[in-house]
Amino acid sequence: MRAVRIHQYGGTETLQLDQIDTPTINADDILINVKAAAINPVDWKIREGYLQQFIPYKLPVTLGWDVAGVVTQVGTEVTDFKVGDEVFSRPDIARDGSYADYIAVKASEVVLKSDKLDFAQAAALPLAGITAWQCLVDVSQVQAGQRVLIHAGAGGVGHLAIQIAKAKGAFVIATASAANQALLTELGADQAVDYALGALTEQVEAVDIVFDTMGGEIQANSWELLKAGGMLVSVVEPPSEEKAKQYGVKSAFVFIEPSSRILTELNKLVEADQLTPLIEHRFSLEQIEAAHLQSQSGRTRGKIVIEVN
Ligand SMILES: NC(=O)c1ccc[n+]([C@@H]2O[C@H](COP(=O)([O-])OP(=O)(O)OC[C@H]3O[C@@H](n4cnc5c(N)ncnc54)[C@H](OP(=O)(O)O)[C@@H]3O)[C@@H](O)[C@H]2O)c1
Repeated sequence: MRAVRIHQYGGTETLQLDQIDTPTINADDILINVKAAAINPVDWKIREGYLQQFIPYKLPVTLGWDVAGVVTQVGTEVTDFKVGDEVFSRPDIARDGSYADYIAVKASEVVLKSDKLDFAQAAALPLAGITAWQCLVDVSQVQAGQRVLIHAGAGGVGHLAIQIAKAKGAFVIATASAANQALLTELGADQAVDYALGALTEQVEAVDIVFDTMGGEIQANSWELLKAGGMLVSVVEPPSEEKAKQYGVKSAFVFIEPSSRILTELNKLVEADQLTPLIEHRFSLEQIEAAHLQSQSGRTRGKIVIEVN
């Protein structure tokens, strides 16, 4: 089968389209014929070697940790799936990924995809959707009527976070460049903020939750936007505990894990027409370098999908 692998860490030139054996599955795995995979910033961060300390890969490794496809084989212990099922998953990041014709995934990390999603949309949802749900619902416990600020609302995580927060009844404020202001409103944001127009303290009234997908100065400038007792949740860098204490707020850092529970919740929102992934860029496996460069640009609206089969 075809698989895009890296044999060493480095730039996009390390992405190599190899011919390799189809993976063998464990008793608790299923084998998925990949219809679509999605790109996430973690893919190129791993490619560059930034996460070597946390995830010690034995190279070569196949990249890509979002998948939608069709079950072609089930392990001897698997009872929840059968050959032919249409599924999606954010599989274990420590195993070979989804930029390939086939991927072996633990059945417990897989969910049947909603008929309302095509394969590309289903591949666009898991990693970014689980991230947004975990931060807003599980960790921040967003409540109806709360004010939620979502940084980078036009991005892969942010555009799903806006929809999830709206579905939970929050008043949603989201940031983007001038070019993406209309998109924020289309996604359901109650207030669209152009971050280039000045300090957010001048543009945004106090909020209950800040969802930080940017880190750095953007995170540092977020403390004073929070009401006392509010929550700053980041997926980029652990917020300072000292600052949280100083401002009388809570803070959390989240690094996501596979979750079929959350995928099931995302499916429910899809079925209720409250959640639709936006795909702005489609590539083939052969175009993987261009797909990574698009993700690295930091300017992607919605998601980047690799159409595999
Ligand atoms: N810890 C975890 O488990 C976890 C999980 C998922 C993602 N992440 C991390 O979260 C980050 C975001 O991921 P993603 O997939 O959403 O990335 P992405 O899709 O590449 O984000 C691109 C978006 O960022 C926006 N942006 C750029 N500069 C901005 C600024 N100064 N203010 C507001 N928006 C800005 C862009 O909008 P404009 O062009 O309009 O500026 C663009 O739409 C990445 O660093 C990723 O690695 C971590």
